[in-house]
Amino acid sequence: MARSEHEEALLEQARKVLPAGGFGNLSFDIVIREGKAGRVWDESGNEYVDFLLGSGPMFLGHAHPDVTAAAQAQIGKGTTFFANNAAGIRLAAAIVDAVPCAEKVRFVSSGTEADAYAMRLARAFRKREKILKFEGGYHGMSDWSLMSLAPKRLGNFPQASRDSAGIPRSVAADMLIAPFNNAELAASLIREHREELAGVILEPFQRLIPPAPGFLQALRDVTRECGIPLIFDEVVTGFRFAWGGAQEFYGVTPDLCTLGKIIGGGFPLAAIAGRADIMAHFDRSLVGDENFLPMIGTLSGNPVAAAAGLASLEVLKRPGTYDRVFATGQALMDGLAEIIAETSLPAQVIGVPVLFDVVYTRETIRDYRSTMANDAAMQGRMNQRLRAGGVLKGDTKFYTSVAHTEADVAHTLDAFRKAALEEARKAAA
Ligand SMILES: Cc1ncc(COP(=O)(O)O)c(C=O)c1O
Repeated sequence: MARSEHEEALLEQARKVLPAGGFGNLSFDIVIREGKAGRVWDESGNEYVDFLLGSGPMFLGHAHPDVTAAAQAQIGKGTTFFANNAAGIRLAAAIVDAVPCAEKVRFVSSGTEADAYAMRLARAFRKREKILKFEGGYHGMSDWSLMSLAPKRLGNFPQASRDSAGIPRSVAADMLIAPFNNAELAASLIREHREELAGVILEPFQRLIPPAPGFLQALRDVTRECGIPLIFDEVVTGFRFAWGGAQEFYGVTPDLCTLGKIIGGGFPLAAIAGRADIMAHFDRSLVGDENFLPMIGTLSGNPVAAAAGLASLEVLKRPGTYDRVFATGQALMDGLAEIIAETSLPAQVIGVPVLFDVVYTRETIRDYRSTMANDAAMQGRMNQRLRAGGVLKGDTKFYTSVAHTEADVAHTLDAFRKAALEEARKAAA
């Protein structure tokens, strides 16, 4: 892709004023100027089919007219009040209506916050301190979440290892780690530690790994048996896998869940939702001073974000919307798998039609440790070639949107075929 002097100058300025030259998210060698439906343009004017989708929020595609109109209407009336607002109340009602576990809802501004509050809520409810999470599971950037997300050195379960500099050692002692998709081991750890466990948190679909049949139900059963709140992190899966999220898609209802991305319509908004008796800890009048969990955020339930989120949910609720995006994603997954077979690329497609990727190994992927077989260097080369061919995606994900078209699918498969052939040539050389 050709790069304009204008974009070069911006990148140069970024390197001067931003650590490592970026915001911390996608690689820092591109500046995105605008997006429309399933496409984005960089500051040099290059066009890409966009499967990054802002890391997931733009499930309807960029600048959807209904979402834009709802946000603009609110902006004209003021952008934040630090008080209840109509759009936020209606958005909470829509979440209660859609999400099986949601009896009450509290808003925050990011998935990180939502997950940190959900864990604190479980501690307050259970009057215990430890949380069990799964190796490789992502729950944002709090101290408690950055435990055994991507350990380089594999330890023994349930020992937690810190993923970031700056996290106190004492936090690791309050976390227990289990391998995803191993119901037996998780259940035995939960039973063994039941007297000190406050909650169990997981992504019901961990990164790109679907739950094995029976895994979520086994966790549901053992946490219910032990009276320990089960938390589904649905920041990614909420309103994406189904109207009721992964809990509807997989038919297992947790006690609490966190939501983000889609419910903010592209603005900063996330939520904790769940059982009324647990959410009661946010209400001093119900639980008293000692059990009360204060929760204040300047922008929590921001009216512009809530209006955009509500408008997004209204579009998603229209009949046929999920069928359409699942069909688009399935066509992509099938097309990629065909090209992999044709070109004998040592790779496979994993995930579901709304969220998947190609992983560069033929090993079965069922937990974090099996993902280590992925050839990250090959994945990086393929992603770079896709980008050069006008396809933008995250390092490890394709997010599909309602706005992607058959032409977008055809363009993507064409770019992937060229990239795979180049990889095959490189391997033969
Ligand atoms: C499963 C999951 N939980 C939590 C988060 C954190 O959300 P945020 O980036 O809004 O803090 C993410 C973000 O990608 C996520 O994928």
